[in-house]
Amino acid sequence: MSPRISRLSAVAALAAVASAATASVSTSKPAEPCAQIAKLAAGGTPIFSSQLGLACLESIPFKSDLAVSFIDEYSKYLQWQSTIEILRNPPPGSLSATVDLVGGLSTIRSRAAANLYKSQYDFDRDLSQLISSANDGHLAISPCSFAIGFGITTSLVSLSTDGVAMPRLYTLNDGRLLARGNNHVSPVALINGVGAEAYVEQLSSFQGLQDPDARYNLMLSNVPIGLAGSETNSGFANYGAFPGVHEFNLTYANGTLESIPLIAASTIGNFTSTTGDELWDAVCAPLPATTDSSSKKLKRGGNTTKVSKRQADAKELPAPSGYPKPVVKDPFNVMVGYFSEETSLKDVAIMTVSSFETSGEGIPDDETRNFAIQAQSFVNKAVAAGKSKIIVDVTNNPGGTVDSGFALLSIFFPNMTIFSATRIRSVPETQFIFDTASRSKDPETIENFRGAGFLISNLVQPDQKTGFDSDSDFLGPFDVLDVPSTAISAENNFLFGNATDAPINIFGKGGVLNGTEPPYNPEDIIILTDGQCSSTCTIFINHMIPYGVRVVANGGRPQAGPMQGIGGVKGAQVQELSTLSSIYEFTTQVVQNATDAKKPLFTSKELDAFKDHIPLTLDQFPIRLTSGSVNYRNAFAPFDDQTPTHFIYQPADCRIFYTPASLISPEAKWGNVADAIWGGKGGCAFFVPARPPLLFAEPSSTSSSKPASTTAAGKKKTQSSAHKAVGLLLAMAEGLKPQ
Ligand SMILES: *[C@@H]1O[C@H](CO)[C@@H](O)[C@H](O)[C@H]1NC(C)=O
Ligand SMILES: *[C@@H]1O[C@H](CO)[C@@H](O)[C@H](O)[C@H]1NC(C)=O
Ligand SMILES: *[C@@H]1O[C@H](CO)[C@@H](O)[C@H](O)[C@H]1NC(C)=O
Ligand SMILES: *[C@@H]1O[C@H](CO)[C@@H](O)[C@H](O)[C@H]1NC(C)=O
Ligand SMILES: *[C@@H]1O[C@H](CO)[C@@H](O)[C@H](O)[C@H]1NC(C)=O
Ligand SMILES: *[C@@H]1O[C@H](CO)[C@@H](O)[C@H](O)[C@H]1NC(C)=O
Ligand SMILES: *[C@@H]1O[C@H](CO)[C@@H](O)[C@H](O)[C@H]1NC(C)=O
Ligand SMILES: *[C@@H]1O[C@H](CO)[C@@H](O)[C@H](O)[C@H]1NC(C)=O
Repeated sequence: MSPRISRLSAVAALAAVASAATASVSTSKPAEPCAQIAKLAAGGTPIFSSQLGLACLESIPFKSDLAVSFIDEYSKYLQWQSTIEILRNPPPGSLSATVDLVGGLSTIRSRAAANLYKSQYDFDRDLSQLISSANDGHLAISPCSFAIGFGITTSLVSLSTDGVAMPRLYTLNDGRLLARGNNHVSPVALINGVGAEAYVEQLSSFQGLQDPDARYNLMLSNVPIGLAGSETNSGFANYGAFPGVHEFNLTYANGTLESIPLIAASTIGNFTSTTGDELWDAVCAPLPATTDSSSKKLKRGGNTTKVSKRQADAKELPAPSGYPKPVVKDPFNVMVGYFSEETSLKDVAIMTVSSFETSGEGIPDDETRNFAIQAQSFVNKAVAAGKSKIIVDVTNNPGGTVDSGFALLSIFFPNMTIFSATRIRSVPETQFIFDTASRSKDPETIENFRGAGFLISNLVQPDQKTGFDSDSDFLGPFDVLDVPSTAISAENNFLFGNATDAPINIFGKGGVLNGTEPPYNPEDIIILTDGQCSSTCTIFINHMIPYGVRVVANGGRPQAGPMQGIGGVKGAQVQELSTLSSIYEFTTQVVQNATDAKKPLFTSKELDAFKDHIPLTLDQFPIRLTSGSVNYRNAFAPFDDQTPTHFIYQPADCRIFYTPASLISPEAKWGNVADAIWGGKGGCAFFVPARPPLLFAEPSSTSSSKPASTTAAGKKKTQSSAHKAVGLLLAMAEGLKPQ
């Protein structure tokens, strides 16, 4: 389970029983708080006061020695995080927080060694806050003691009268009343005595989205029914860790006060622990080791690269309620296509892409293929129906399978070279794996390393042609903004793509995606986001922009000025700590077996150098660590191989706030976009004047002319920092030039 999901399930549990009675704490008798919770749970009351929840969590013992060695082992995994050094000193222009992850861990370790934490929960909150402060959706940790989640039953929305006027915060219920024409509601002016907007922004500062406007949107319920059809949980209503207050006192602009109590619920199912010690044993004690030590295989199916952070529901979903009747949809609503009767939208097709999660646990093997077929089919139907324009709505898209992002790109711009350039941290923790892979002799072992992406001889540069002459050509380390890094390699070697499993319409790998001409002019395509667009979603958008496709961003903080359309992590690959753990287990076995067979892969001196950098596997951790992840690859553009795209500011072409009507009608939301961009009616709260497309894609009719040859990808050009944002666009354009 990914960390994000476990937090959300706490939230879902709360939401599901939100209307159930909340038990009051008996403050008179000092019964063990955890025992009170267990008793309530046994009696069928899953919700209790936040005071009781916090008291139980704070009764979990703190074990100083275990916590210190936990930090020591976790630190080795953290060495895979690609941005450690840059976060200490983010480049100018980037909106990144300044965070010293390694220094912060060392402080936590010192406090743990000095036994300064009162409970495991205090320690875990400190650790979680440090990791979350990087705002990197790929960097996460799910501490063992977060066994109780917190929440409230009220959501907030941020609404503007017309999409352009400065928005105000309302409760979701009031927002719905406004949408139905009831004007006797009042905005929320203060929360706990502080300006409501500032309070919400402050609460959002530990969310896993890099952009502050995207984080603000995450706190709200501006799109109450998500693109996949389920109710979305607003951040304001849900907290994985105690938010520091036991109630939110709302002061409405009309002077009315309302106090909303924080409530709590178990996140671990049936809560039976009656003391803090029992709870430690239940959730923090190491799990007994599993006994499947026979023939370890490395995870990562086939030859596709995944940027996956979300488990999808295996069940086929009905079409999203409140949305128009779909013209085409895939079984999981990952892609749904609509036509609308609204005047503003009569020439416009709308494709919603709720995620790119088309592979992984619980998802049928053919979903990557199916997604591509359905998306292609919708585009074909839209063109046939005379829809001359299209909105691709990726609101709240957390990413997923990279191949599906590339598939969708190749439906709009067939047979164009896809540029990708990534670097990995080159430190003993990562080098150990690459070195072992290179020195292995056994074909099955080599195939395992290759499949997991660690075989240097199998890697390719961004030109998709050149490999690496030697291991050190790849491993360096090269100093890149102080990060000891590998050389640039492409994320995917498209040569190995499988046209059946994962159709991408380039290099003849399109299979069912057999279009030859762009179905739409770039100026007739709009990508709509709410900033909550991460990983594969960012890859998709950044490959569409250079053709002249425009991005509209919805919502964000109530302030004038631009907003980024891509507010989530732009890192090119996540690694789950559980995956890294099995990679270490496999690799140490390979090394040990070779030594046992008297054919050692390393000298003992070489091994000594690695010794302190090889962590315990997760099941050997002194304190349980069930899930966590790191951003493994930084992504780069061809003209800037120094600044990861993580740290490059990219304003959307147009920004539109949410309106009351858009709260109850997605068509009103899309209509505002169509009017603002194609209606000639203004309508953007902030507008970036149209720039010429950086890459000219010949639309329809004339057969595709072959343009001049490309510059060698990866070629360095120096540039001033002022030109970095534009540099990204140019760079992507360069990489995308058709061949
Ligand atoms: C003030 O505003 C709140 C929030 O919309 C509303 O519930 C309440 O009825 C209003 N009070 C008065 C006196 O209008
Ligand atoms: C909320 O209001 C109550 C009553 O005035 C007060 O006792 C409490 O401290 C307030 N809570 C916060 C978090 O400000
Ligand atoms: C929870 O655990 C208790 C004690 O083990 C058991 O009696 C009860 O049936 C369980 N409840 C559920 C819903 O599983
Ligand atoms: C190491 O050797 C053991 C015993 O022969 C074998 O079971 C295991 O699969 C080997 N591990 C690897 C990674 O080759
Ligand atoms: C992956 O690519 C290799 C080529 O290196 C090929 O031999 C193998 O069959 C591919 N595996 C899958 C599952 O497509
Ligand atoms: C591609 O995938 C299909 C379906 O999984 C498989 O049958 C086929 O052998 C694969 N092709 C290659 C070249 O690996
Ligand atoms: C795309 O290009 C590849 C080779 O570059 C070629 O084999 C394939 O036929 C082309 N596909 C289309 C649809 O033009
Ligand atoms: C593309 O494939 C579809 C069905 O898979 C087929 O009907 C169509 O003729 C193909 N188009 C081209 C240009 O090959």
